[in-house]
Amino acid sequence: MGAATHLGINLSEYDAVILTLIPHYDELIDAAGAAVGALARPAPAVVDLGTGSGALAQAILKASPKARVTGIDEDAGMLAMAEKRLKGRITVIHGNFETIPIPGCDVISASFALHHIRTSRRKAALYRRAFAALKRGGLIVSADCCLASAAALQRSDRANWLAHLRQNCSPAKAEGYLKAWAKEDVYFTLEQEMDLLRRAGFKAEIAFRKTCFAVVVGLK
Ligand SMILES: C[S@@+](CC[C@H](N)C(=O)[O-])C[C@H]1O[C@@H](n2cnc3c(N)ncnc32)[C@H](O)[C@@H]1O
Repeated sequence: MGAATHLGINLSEYDAVILTLIPHYDELIDAAGAAVGALARPAPAVVDLGTGSGALAQAILKASPKARVTGIDEDAGMLAMAEKRLKGRITVIHGNFETIPIPGCDVISASFALHHIRTSRRKAALYRRAFAALKRGGLIVSADCCLASAAALQRSDRANWLAHLRQNCSPAKAEGYLKAWAKEDVYFTLEQEMDLLRRAGFKAEIAFRKTCFAVVVGLK
């Protein structure tokens, strides 16, 4: 299923609509880009998994202007949007990041892409492949929904997400979005994410966190 179909939107509207669907989207993208700028080498080779329309790639290029970015995505329409947005500053690979070889690099990045990995076993495998692809001193950066561990916090974070959605749609439609995505997307707790990164060999850090959204960093 293409990204737009999954989100229930038209592809051409993606960049505008994603802001209405994901609370703190811009802040998370900026924080992930800034983490790359602060921690990576001056001209890092970056592989952006599930690059979509290229928002994170653009933030990385802003923070690290000499970065050489490769974007991987299985949705050709999204990759075309990334190429248009970044005008020659991104190389794209059409494919499934869970199965195609990840090129050797300094940084592996992802935003709102790794929740498409459906099991912790598969996510662990992706993190191990990322660790193997990264040079020594390299890093993986992922911005995504990372649940709180406590049920009470999970409930209040869900209420915050619904309140965000309701700014642009009815309460029933907001509930419908979260229910539909729950059938496709898999969110782990922040603790589980850190554990998975550590088990793959990374030193794991939290670069940014707001409600159930976080930027996690793994250093090789
Ligand atoms: C919600 S979009 C996020 C796009 C972009 N990173 C952003 O922050 O706006 C998820 C993207 O990941 C891509 N994707 C999901 N699973 C994938 C996989 N296994 N291999 C390649 N791309 C994948 C989708 O096609 C989509 O473009």
